[in-house]
Amino acid sequence: MSKSIVITSGKGGVGKTTVTANLGIALAIRGKKVVLVDGDIGLNNLDVCMHIEDRIVYDIGDVVKNKCTVSQCLVPFCDNLFVLPATSMSASLITTLQFMEIIDKLKETFDYIFIDCPAGIENSFHRAVKGADEAIIVTTPHISSVRDAYKVSRVLSSYRLAKQGLIINRMHGGNVIDKTMISAKDITNALQLELYGVVPESNDINLYSIISELKPNSAPYFSYNLIAQYIDGESKKIYDYTAPYKGFFNKLLRKLSQ
Ligand SMILES: Nc1ncnc2c1ncn2[C@@H]1O[C@H](COP(=O)(O)OP(=O)(O)OP(=O)(O)O)[C@@H](O)[C@H]1O
Ligand SMILES: [Mg+2]
Repeated sequence: MSKSIVITSGKGGVGKTTVTANLGIALAIRGKKVVLVDGDIGLNNLDVCMHIEDRIVYDIGDVVKNKCTVSQCLVPFCDNLFVLPATSMSASLITTLQFMEIIDKLKETFDYIFIDCPAGIENSFHRAVKGADEAIIVTTPHISSVRDAYKVSRVLSSYRLAKQGLIINRMHGGNVIDKTMISAKDITNALQLELYGVVPESNDINLYSIISELKPNSAPYFSYNLIAQYIDGESKKIYDYTAPYKGFFNKLLRKLSQ
């Protein structure tokens, strides 16, 4: 059965677009048919994050203006994975109803539809959420991000969503062990949301954005794969972001590098 999931956060810059792109890639690698919808219409950057901006012919605004069909608008990324871009400013004139109709059309073809939500809780947030069956809230361990995740979760409760899950991005295991960063467990308890997974802080993600540019044994690749398995109902394992920092030699190395 097809599912549309909005990736949201409240606070900007916490990794919604990066999570949208990488969850899509991880599920597509697992054989699911996935489409990523840029719900950040007008301030789009899903296309940039996925390095497909040169291949865009039509965008979601053209669908509404009847210049193309939904399927003509889709940009292929790899087997099973497509992006519905939102590049032109005129696309921001799309109504909530038009957006919902496009999502319904996509449900005929895809297993998963991920909607990359804009930051904040304004009109464009409302439009993106109305197209979704479920929500994933992304937060970083920073207190302002956790606070905004809590607020957005309260707002989401007023929508008819089947589920709200949590992804904690940019966790640093060493900092948690040193007690200079709040743990994923404490964040999950504070937000009272189901934890779908944890993504570690990674220079590779900052540099390349997408896991398909990384080695399958890299920490971000591994953590996104676990989240894909969680969402797909195959496993409930959560990435252990502290593991690379445990043990005598790791502790010694960290002490020496301080
Ligand atoms: N796990 C990570 N480790 C390191 N950097 C990361 C990680 N996840 C995301 N980033 C970086 O954080 C920045 C913001 O990410 P992104 O654009 O996905 O956030 P966003 O929530 O979509 O922002 P906006 O609210 O503006 O749409 C990017 O530079 C991205 O590369
Ligand atoms: Mg974004």
